[in-house]
Amino acid sequence: MNKFNHKDLLTLLDYSPEEISYLLDLAAKLKEEKKKGIPHEVLKGKNIVLLFEKDSTRTRCAFETAGHDLGMNVTYIGPTGSQMGKKESIKDTARVLTRMFDGIEYRGYAQDIVKEIAMNSKVPVWNGLTNEFHPTQILADFLTIKEHKGYLKGIALSYLGDGRYNMGNSYMVGSAKMGLDFRMIAPKELWPSQELIDECKKIAKETGAKLTFSEDINTVKGSDVVATDVWVSMGEEDKVWEERISKLKKYQVNKELMALAKKDAIFIHCLPSFHNIETKIGLEVYNKFGMNGLEVTEDVFEGPQSVVFDEAENRLHTIKAVIYATMVK
Ligand code: CP
Ligand code: NVA
Repeated sequence: MNKFNHKDLLTLLDYSPEEISYLLDLAAKLKEEKKKGIPHEVLKGKNIVLLFEKDSTRTRCAFETAGHDLGMNVTYIGPTGSQMGKKESIKDTARVLTRMFDGIEYRGYAQDIVKEIAMNSKVPVWNGLTNEFHPTQILADFLTIKEHKGYLKGIALSYLGDGRYNMGNSYMVGSAKMGLDFRMIAPKELWPSQELIDECKKIAKETGAKLTFSEDINTVKGSDVVATDVWVSMGEEDKVWEERISKLKKYQVNKELMALAKKDAIFIHCLPSFHNIETKIGLEVYNKFGMNGLEVTEDVFEGPQSVVFDEAENRLHTIKAVIYATMVK
């Protein structure tokens, strides 16, 4: 019997540690079932829609495969090709979609947009990334940490890079909720907002989480997990590259940085990642700034401590758990 009470997943701030644990356990169970070939088509006949105002590989494919594994039909609406944003408001779009679908995923810009969709929808709404939060990614990351380390509470997780965007914010929120020893290592102007830090500190008091904010890369010492994210996120202007590179260069996850963490530390990254010049943007940045590999170097990305593809696969299992928990009653 599913006792999950939430209609939506907009941010993990809305979820209790017990509910997050429940989702992680459910994801592990669904993963095992899939590996064993045990079908779980419990939502046959239902329809969900994926509304993307920004591009995606993992999130889109995870929602699509999860939906299919659960027996559902899945409709994808990309950044172009619908009326939304041009001839029709978000609010009106939401009121149309809720009449046709049994669940709505949204990826795009402000967190207020996904909130507005949820307010105007009777069916579950899932945040597939906004500027502020990426909750389904944190579930995948925490499942990956549990698989490799066996537990979450007390895990020392260092996040280096842009701390004031979706991934930095979400690692802090998830860590506060689940009692981690979280270390934000970035220039002060790229830390999360004081308001969010204060909220997370309150949560940490209850869960036993430790939250550290530092500009010093030596804070990585003793970490079990090292995490980073791209230095310039989707939707940001190209002109910010130069400033961001100069601010974050010394926070690159390279061999020397990894050597500060525990010997058996793992490296995680939500992906996509600029770790070589095999991408258009990676090459452009190399030509302009001479850096081959940005937030993480090729040797760390491809090295034995990197679990980034386990993490990417876990997007499927954790997103399936979110859909299951919010839709199966
Ligand atoms: N990590 C992640 O959200 O990847 P996509 O942008 O490919 O969905
Ligand atoms: N911070 C990144 C995360 C991508 C999954 C972005 O928003 O582009």
